[in-house]
Amino acid sequence: MSRRRRVYEGKAKILYEGPEPGTLVQYFKDDATAFNNEKRGTITGKGVLNNRISEHIMTHLNGMGVPTHFIRRLNMREQLVRQVEIIPLEVVVRNVAAGSIAKRLGMDEGTQLPRTLVEFYLKDDALNDPLVTEDHINAFNWAHPQEVEEIMGLAMRVNDFMVGLFAAIGIKLVDFKIEFGRLWENDQLRIVLADEISPDSCRLWDTKTNEKLDKDRFRRDMGGVSEAYQEVARRLGILPEGGPVDHKEPELVQ
Ligand code: TMP
Repeated sequence: MSRRRRVYEGKAKILYEGPEPGTLVQYFKDDATAFNNEKRGTITGKGVLNNRISEHIMTHLNGMGVPTHFIRRLNMREQLVRQVEIIPLEVVVRNVAAGSIAKRLGMDEGTQLPRTLVEFYLKDDALNDPLVTEDHINAFNWAHPQEVEEIMGLAMRVNDFMVGLFAAIGIKLVDFKIEFGRLWENDQLRIVLADEISPDSCRLWDTKTNEKLDKDRFRRDMGGVSEAYQEVARRLGILPEGGPVDHKEPELVQ
């Protein structure tokens, strides 16, 4: 494989220059971190599973007119995506109280929220991704008010789709985090869904037992992390043949 330039390395993914201008190759690692890098580990096969799961969800979203950066999956651990300018916000959609909102507002985890909530967190590791309001976003110019409107609408559409997708396979979508980017197309600036959607960035509970099938198993040292991710892929009907572990080293060059 030819030498590729590494454009960005995050905690769970690496972005390489793509084959054509305006494209990137998104490589999914098995590395996991939590609590802003305080806790680190490896979840064997996670990258392979997240690549598949994110492909599955983004393909459906593209098909229903939610623009995403996803172009196509290239191999076990890589997908081709459009290069976008990431908006520095983590957009969290919540259907059921869990995690930080349960803690902040003193609610029991698992309490149904009166309606779906959309929250914004500033992407800033040094500040530990603080919760911010729309007024902050406008005042500090992290995004234009029109962009915020569009992001909220898209986030709700993503939620509507994902709630149904997971309900059909016996999974409750508790909450999830998504990111958006700006993309120039035919002289027009568009907002598109970027990053990934996977059990790393969602809370997924078995409908009957409330068993956690997501990264909280890693965050909370519950064990069975790989198995939970595999179970999500299996129920979605996309478990890679031969299992999620690629037996060869990735063909990567620095
Ligand atoms: P929270 O309850 O910790 O705020 O998390 C809300 C959702 O966002 C949950 O599904 C996990 C996801 N999430 C991320 O994907 N990345 C993060 O850095 C954090 C804090 C949460």
